[in-house]
Amino acid sequence: MNAVVRVEADGVRLVAEVTGSGPALLFVHGFPLDRTMWQHQVMGIDGWTRIAPDLRGAGESAVPTGGYSMSRYADDLIQVLDAVGTKAAVCCGLSMGGYILFELLRRHPERIRALILCDTKSEPDTPEGQRGRDDLAGVARRDGIGAVASKLLPKLLGRSTAARDAAVVETVRAMVLRSPVEGVAGALEAMRDRPDSTPLLAQIAVPTLVLVGAEDELTPPAVVRPMAERIRGARFVEIEAAGHMAPLEQPGAVTPALVDFLGALG
Ligand code: MLT
Repeated sequence: MNAVVRVEADGVRLVAEVTGSGPALLFVHGFPLDRTMWQHQVMGIDGWTRIAPDLRGAGESAVPTGGYSMSRYADDLIQVLDAVGTKAAVCCGLSMGGYILFELLRRHPERIRALILCDTKSEPDTPEGQRGRDDLAGVARRDGIGAVASKLLPKLLGRSTAARDAAVVETVRAMVLRSPVEGVAGALEAMRDRPDSTPLLAQIAVPTLVLVGAEDELTPPAVVRPMAERIRGARFVEIEAAGHMAPLEQPGAVTPALVDFLGALG
């Protein structure tokens, strides 16, 4: 199937791109981004039904005012999987996408066949981090998305990409700039209020790949590696010359790492 699927979730229209056939592979994007951040993996992984939704408040999905939470995002993913006729998927999330997958694991573990956690962490926000979320939501509402982009862009990309890959810098800048302000503010609230997922790590019983960009400043390897070590049997891969957006920055390394992990699933 190659289709753009529209799903109604709790009265909100969600859009998901569904590509290929075979077992299901769900891609959950980070913040403040959309499904196009997975473009290389969606195009480059054959033999799987690649399902890439835009979360509520992002991309082509509708932008409700208020009501954003990790549990709402997780339940939205269930609506998407149901619409595509998928019982259980390999679930791959980056950063906020990972936070949502932890919630999916708490709420609907039977829908997760295996996990791919990219550039994400299990810890909740510190009190200072929570204040930062509120400040950034204020900036978004008062000064617009351009002001948010100026603050976030330098942190999203690794120094190697920033210095050498103008096309990727431009792709990520454009993605952030088209993010709707209400969706950005809602995601910030949802991330601010997310629970600590660290106690969950020891309970993860599905095959897991943890991947991080070596130059990731938001969720650095020093934070991500210990998380991987707490998940029984997890594979850990560090991607050279990549920051927080490793799948876009170094697709030539990330896509084969995913293919290798998927190939080992029984
Ligand atoms: C993301 O990429 O989803 C965000 O950096 C996550 C966060 O701000 O915690």
